Amino acid sequence: MLSYDEAIESVVFTELEIAATVDRMAAELGRLCAGEAVLLVGVLKGALFFTADLARALTRLEDGPSEIRMDFLAVSSYGNSNRTSGEVRLLKDVAESVEGRNVVIVEDIVDNGLTLAYLQGLLGGRHPASLRTCVLLDKPFHRTVDVPIDVLGLEAPDAFIVGYGLDYQERFRNLPYLAKLQASIFAE
Ligand code: PRP
Repeated sequence: MLSYDEAIESVVFTELEIAATVDRMAAELGRLCAGEAVLLVGVLKGALFFTADLARALTRLEDGPSEIRMDFLAVSSYGNSNRTSGEVRLLKDVAESVEGRNVVIVEDIVDNGLTLAYLQGLLGGRHPASLRTCVLLDKPFHRTVDVPIDVLGLEAPDAFIVGYGLDYQERFRNLPYLAKLQASIFAE
């Protein structure tokens, strides 16, 4: 198995760039939901770190939400493949009721859009007071369904990106930066 250094072709976004982006996104989201009690719904596993960092950045705002709660759900569309199957599976639902709440879906990446479309339909159908979507990385190149995004972080290159929660076959989520993988990793 290749080491991290051998597996990574290049760093796409550094830890500092990610932190600055999360702060900027928190400020934007904070303006949208100033004074509201919000429920952040992080989409596992990819949005693990992003949800945690976003929640703390929102908390540091002076005029942000009046209250921040967090819940998580888990979906899988890729399984252990690097290609989407086109089928979204709900692996774990939120524990809290979203009815009447100000809900924010927190996603790490939008690629073809099927996962987000599924989640917006699922949570939107449960009658939240509001439903907003916050996405760290946009990959607009292979979108098959149009999804509204309220707060967007960065455009990712058209390459397989790992780190900061994103995996390849469950590896590399732990990298603190976002990086492009060497092509050779896919032949392992
Ligand atoms: C990834 C990512 C998004 C989804 C986006 O999740 O975290 O949820 O794919 O892809 P799409 O826009 O093409 O639907 P994945 O299924 O790999 O699960 P993970 O978050 O547990 O890694």
